[in-house]
Amino acid sequence: MGFNVICLEETDSTNLQASALLSQSAIREPTVLVAAYQTGGRGQGQNSWISDRKENLLCSFVVFPEDMKAQDQFRLSVLTSLAVHDLVKAYSPEPAIKWPNDILVNDAKIAGILIENRLLQDRIVSSVIGIGLNVNQTQFPDFKVPATSLSAISKNRLDTGKVLKKLCQTLQNRFNFLTGKQYHAAEKSYLAVLYGIGILKWYRSEDKTFKARISGIDEYGRLMLVTESGETLVKGFKEIEYLWDYHL
Ligand code: BTN
Repeated sequence: MGFNVICLEETDSTNLQASALLSQSAIREPTVLVAAYQTGGRGQGQNSWISDRKENLLCSFVVFPEDMKAQDQFRLSVLTSLAVHDLVKAYSPEPAIKWPNDILVNDAKIAGILIENRLLQDRIVSSVIGIGLNVNQTQFPDFKVPATSLSAISKNRLDTGKVLKKLCQTLQNRFNFLTGKQYHAAEKSYLAVLYGIGILKWYRSEDKTFKARISGIDEYGRLMLVTESGETLVKGFKEIEYLWDYHL
């Protein structure tokens, strides 16, 4: 694939900029927008993404999946999570993917992903894949899920440009699974590193707190769990909360 690179010193959000360029038909090839600082970085749902200037990787990849059904959009999440996981693994022994697409190291968040797709009828024509990867920052605000960075783990400052180059490679490798129709192998790799899979942990959903084991994801990318009492649950994004402070 190969990506054109657009570097920005400061912007509101690389996802918003990528989207604006797509609307003007100013991007027609795989491209990555990278910013040293975002004034309005966006996270999943209503969350924002906060990052110190020049310390971390803030980027949005624009890709044009071939013949991808809207109902299969979770595949982009799986492949992107794996690509970021591959990259983090080069610096840290055991990263995990927290459903749907956070990357964790030792229970702390090192990267977040925000994917925004454009649809034409039932097909995805383009996708903006926003990735925030903590690289050199070591002090973080008091987030609900604690944060970490590549530098905090490896005890070395890293060149964010080199990290971006590696990310382009891992993303390209993983996206070959999409064109090679080997997506199911990728799904297997995703489940193998899924945070909490098969482990009894605390969750909250519909105002109830309970212990359950993640058993997998369904064809739409929803999380499947089996509660302590044997009930099977299927939960979409925002329908379930991981309870970090509980200990079994
Ligand atoms: C999350 O974990 O909530 C997703 C965070 C995604 C953050 C990245 S930073 C680059 C890109 N631009 C944005 O505004 N958001 C994504």
